[in-house]
Amino acid sequence: MKNIPHVPVLYKEVIDAFKEIKDGIIIDCTTGYGGHSSMILDANPHVNLIGIDQDQTAIDFSSERLKKYGKRVSIKKGRFSVVIEDILKEVDISQIKGILADIGVSSLQLDHKERGFSYESETLDMRMNKDAPLSAYEVVNEYSKKELERILLEYGELRNNKKIASAIIENRPFKSAKSLSDALKPHMPQGKKIHPATLLMQAIRIEVNDELGELKGLLSSLEKASLSHATVAVISFHSLEDRIVKKTYAKWAKSCICPQEAMRCTCGNNNALGKVISKKPIMADKNELKENVRSRSAKMRIFKMSGINER
Ligand SMILES: C[S@@+](CC[C@H](N)C(=O)[O-])C[C@H]1O[C@@H](n2cnc3c(N)ncnc32)[C@H](O)[C@@H]1O
Repeated sequence: MKNIPHVPVLYKEVIDAFKEIKDGIIIDCTTGYGGHSSMILDANPHVNLIGIDQDQTAIDFSSERLKKYGKRVSIKKGRFSVVIEDILKEVDISQIKGILADIGVSSLQLDHKERGFSYESETLDMRMNKDAPLSAYEVVNEYSKKELERILLEYGELRNNKKIASAIIENRPFKSAKSLSDALKPHMPQGKKIHPATLLMQAIRIEVNDELGELKGLLSSLEKASLSHATVAVISFHSLEDRIVKKTYAKWAKSCICPQEAMRCTCGNNNALGKVISKKPIMADKNELKENVRSRSAKMRIFKMSGINER
């Protein structure tokens, strides 16, 4: 397929993560432009794949790209925190052998200026799902100072969040990401590697798409599902997301879940859901870094679930 708009990150490492899966189902929670999905289908010829995405453009593209795999593939539109629940009810969960989530935005979403993800955009949108009720326009033009301060600090890690929030309030309404980033440029950290408005755009995007809530929802559904022998691989691009994945895996790997202050173990000491496969995050190698600049901040963590779950 020509003009594939997104180069998948950590592609060799993703294939490696799922290489032992010989049959059953792998769920790609962020099928996007079908890059990882098609590689998984090629590398695991007896595996079926369910792809999820909330972006109609991505769904249309990947449906066409993955058509050649016929009945081995089905694609569902929606937020993965919701769709995963439906899938867990619909399929025999003993067949679910792998779960991939490559969270964040795709290159196409960033490059198509009318989607409003870029600081050069003439719109202020940033919704991955164009039907979602909250866009960047409402966040920027209607949020209170306190709410803006919170998202700038938490999601953008911008220490001068109060100054930036005041500047937004004084200069709004904003109609485009470009006018917003131009107006706020003097308040932004002037790093050499990234555009000054990158962290501001990131903070607004995470809020608009509830990206942290989505990740927590997905992990919580997997925890409750008691999957036996499923490999979970999550690729994240933000330190907050990576921390959520790391902490969740550590909790899943705990055998004893007694309160810390307990004098002796009464929980049975057999509560681990499986084990952490990647003690350190897996990151792009030198060659990939040269080929694909997006891989710079990608971190993948893998957990192997083994099906014990009384939690
Ligand atoms: C980084 S791209 C994935 C690219 C894909 N792995 C590939 O190889 O083409 C992330 C994709 O996930 C989708 N996405 C992000 N968060 C989502 C969520 N909570 N629910 C459903 N789709 C989501 C985005 O719309 C985007 O298409």
